Amino acid sequence: MSLIYKILLLLALCSCNADAADPLGNFCNLNTNISRVSQISVNIDRLLAELVSKTSSNGYIATSFGRGDDQVFGLAQCRGDVSSTDCSSCIQDAAKLIRQRCPKQADSRIWYDYCFLRYNNKSFAGEVDTSVGIFYFNVGTVTDPENFNKQLGALMDEIRARAVEPKNEGLGKGDTKLSSLVTLYALVQCTRDLSQIDCAQCLAIAVGNFETICSNRKGCRVLYSSCYVRYELYPFFYPLDSNSTVADNGRAIVYP
Ligand SMILES: *[C@@H]1O[C@H](CO)[C@@H](O)[C@H](O)[C@H]1NC(C)=O
Ligand SMILES: *[C@@H]1O[C@H](CO)[C@@H](O)[C@H](O)[C@H]1NC(C)=O
Ligand SMILES: *[C@@H]1O[C@H](CO)[C@@H](O)[C@H](O)[C@H]1NC(C)=O
Repeated sequence: MSLIYKILLLLALCSCNADAADPLGNFCNLNTNISRVSQISVNIDRLLAELVSKTSSNGYIATSFGRGDDQVFGLAQCRGDVSSTDCSSCIQDAAKLIRQRCPKQADSRIWYDYCFLRYNNKSFAGEVDTSVGIFYFNVGTVTDPENFNKQLGALMDEIRARAVEPKNEGLGKGDTKLSSLVTLYALVQCTRDLSQIDCAQCLAIAVGNFETICSNRKGCRVLYSSCYVRYELYPFFYPLDSNSTVADNGRAIVYP
């Protein structure tokens, strides 16, 4: 795919308290316009209903709806650490909003922190797709980049290795103490349609942004259609680290 779409978004300090229902981004491929009354469009609605009803039972589904030229393919996946209740509400929000954001595009994708959903009239399962990237980073930078990057690299290597173990279904997460007061938390995840080697490739591309876009940032997220990578200096994945400062609603607060 020769299309290179990059959406750069800035995460300001403490926008971490933003509504969980807000998407991190979406992508409507304007080269795949279809009419709202086409059979493809009708099939997309049927496909979305299936994604909504079936994703939360094990956090992932890749399926299709319709036949021949009107067949549409869909994939929905939640972050592996979120509950099925949170997964279900995330996919419901995603299915609703994607049709508003991309009303007439056959190739559409939407990213949330807790889930990802996409569909297309072209099959995409099993293909590494890093053509569209969403990047969020903390505006603050670390005070000791040398040690930070060393520890971040080591933690990433560890959780990337975990993500490609079949039993982990594409998910790797972990933390490491940088000092007595500061802990680094990181999570990586591939979509479950990828083979181990393709998962490793997607994560390597995502982590490749650490030296550029994420350079010395206190936190950074890279979201592709095939994988997700995030690190923060506060706990953001479940189960939450009980010794950290956490707001009543369960979301972490960043203290710069
Ligand atoms: C698809 O639709 C969008 C918005 O309706 C429009 O801006 C775009 O030019 C269209 N793309 C093509 C290839 O016609
Ligand atoms: C997807 O739909 C568009 C618009 O109808 C069509 O031009 C294109 O050939 C379709 N692609 C596939 C793989 O069927
Ligand atoms: C929380 O802090 C206590 C006391 O410092 C320690 O014993 C415990 O292991 C910590 N728990 C976690 C989950 O880090």
